This record gives sequence, C-alpha cells and structure tokens, in this order.
Amino acid sequence: MALTGTKKMFEKAYAGHYAIGAFNVNNMEIIQGIMEGAREKQCPVILQASEGARKYAGQEYIVSLVKTAIEQYPEIPVTLHLDHGSGFQVCKECIDGGFTSVMFDGSKYSFDENVKITKQVVEYAHAHGVVVEAELGRLAGVEDMVSVDAKDAIFTDPEEAAEFVALTGCDSLAIAIGTSHGAYKYSGDPYLDYERLEKVGKLLPNYPIVLHGASTVIQKYVQKCNEFGGKVIGAKGVPEDMLRKAATMAVCKINIDTDIRLAMTAAIRESLMTHPENFDPREYLKPAREAVKQMVIHKIDTALGCANSI
Ligand code: G3H
Ligand code: 13P
Ligand code: ZN
Repeated sequence: MALTGTKKMFEKAYAGHYAIGAFNVNNMEIIQGIMEGAREKQCPVILQASEGARKYAGQEYIVSLVKTAIEQYPEIPVTLHLDHGSGFQVCKECIDGGFTSVMFDGSKYSFDENVKITKQVVEYAHAHGVVVEAELGRLAGVEDMVSVDAKDAIFTDPEEAAEFVALTGCDSLAIAIGTSHGAYKYSGDPYLDYERLEKVGKLLPNYPIVLHGASTVIQKYVQKCNEFGGKVIGAKGVPEDMLRKAATMAVCKINIDTDIRLAMTAAIRESLMTHPENFDPREYLKPAREAVKQMVIHKIDTALGCANSI
C-alpha cells in the first residue's frame, strides 16, 4: 500500500467513535516498534516527524524509513505527517519530499495571521494532494489552568474554531482543551474540557479534531526509569479512559510522543543497568523497540479503540 492521507481514516474513525494514533518518529527502531504494534492490532497509523526529528535524522532518512515500512507492512494504511510545522517553507519541503499530511502550527500567532498562513499552506498542500492540520488555542502548561477565566483565555473558543475552519479550509484542527506537551501535564487532577469539545463537535459536524499533548505518561515506564537510575519525578499525563471518551466524541487523531520516549528509555536503562558488561547497541535497542511495540498495543486497546479497523 502507498502512503495515504488522513481523509478516509478520519471519516471511519469519526463514524466508528475511535481515534487514530499519531506517533512521533525519530529513528528506525521507533518506526519498527510502532508498525509491529499496528500490525498486531490491525489498524491504520500516523507516523509523524517534528522539525526536531527532521534535524536529528534528516528528512530523507525519515521518508526512506517510512517508505520501507510500508513495503514491509503492506496491509497497514500509513500517513506520513509533519508535526508542528512552524511556517509555510517547512510545510512545502515536506510536501515536496513525500509527506502525505502536514501540520501548520500557527497557535502562537494572532487569529488573522494564523488564518493567513494556514490558508497559504492549504492552497499548496491541496494542489499536491496533501492534507493539512492546523491549530487554534494554546496548549496549557501545568500552572496555567487555575481559573475559568484562564481556561477561556487559552483554550480554543468553539465559535472561533468553526470560523477558522471555514476561512482556511484546513482538513483537521488541533484544539486546546486541557492537554499539554511533555511528561508534566497536571499539578492537580487530570482535566479535559469535554463540554468545549462537544460544542466544537456541534459547530463542526463530522469534522476531525486533533488532540496534542495526549500521552498518558504510563506510570509503569516512569517507575522503571526511576528504578534504573533515572530521575523522572512527579510526571503525570492524560489517563487512558479520558482519552477514550474524547475519541468517542470528535477527536479522530491522538498524538503520542512522551509515552514512546518513556517506554524506550525505561527499557534502555534496565538493559544497561542489568548488563553493565554490554556495549553492543543492539542489545539495548532490541528491548527498546519491543517496549515501543507493547506501548502502542496498550494505547490502541485502552485509549484509541482503533483495533481491527483496516
Ligand atoms: O509536540 C512535540 C513533539 O513531542 C515533538 O517533540 O520537537 O522534541 O521532536 P520534538
Ligand atoms: P505528548 O508530549 O503528550 O506525547 O504529545 C505529543 C504531541 O502532541 C506531538 O505533537
Ligand atoms: Zn503536539
């Protein structure tokens, strides 16, 4: 199967009340682990590369690795997506380089500037058969969500979301409803603004919504990191049942990076600590790759709900 866009994936996900996992990729082992997980659960997958991933591995390496993956797993629909593109140029480079989906993240800009650049990206992307994810609203840090006023100031306004989609023609929209990037998402109880999500869903019927910063920060991996010499203290993410509920609503794409990092690092730490004599990278990258696979399977079962959806 060739690389695909997200249109059909999201239509099926919306109707089936599940979400597609969008996993960040930076190297071969991560891609292999994700693809093994997707094969075991028979579901589509979005492999996404950030600008940091492009700098680390090089765009050509990422594209080549993903192209090899689709040959190895022909039954799995795969989208190659740019995560958090910061401007038109990087989106264009990815479109020209073979990505089938790009995100322009204009959340730091004014509404009008965000609309302007998103429109420019949409125009170029659609002319090349590529879909575009945009973002409106600011993903809150742990200290930001102290009051209703603060939430209104930073979370996505549903009316604005509807206007933004109408003005730009973007194919999916990332919104802020309580998640944040990284391993430290909440100082208190985890929170997702389902009411806001429902309003967005009503104003944008059948329209795919994206949840960034959606790692659960699986405690098993945090504990293993710490047991084997790490220092990941007070890390907390979005519980899987909360993500599952969002996936039954308008959320069709759930972004996961931190859970990959934690799963891999826990496995590598354990391997290096328990086999101090080893200096063959394959000996610790093998369990790291297996940890990614198991983590992906776990997310599909508990949060995404997309098993057997090919
Ligand atoms: O949302 C950001 C992703 O976790 C990618 O992170 O920019 O460090 O690759 P990165
Ligand atoms: P996490 O840090 O919660 O994994 O979020 C990843 C993400 O949103 C990538 O765009
Ligand atoms: Zn993100």
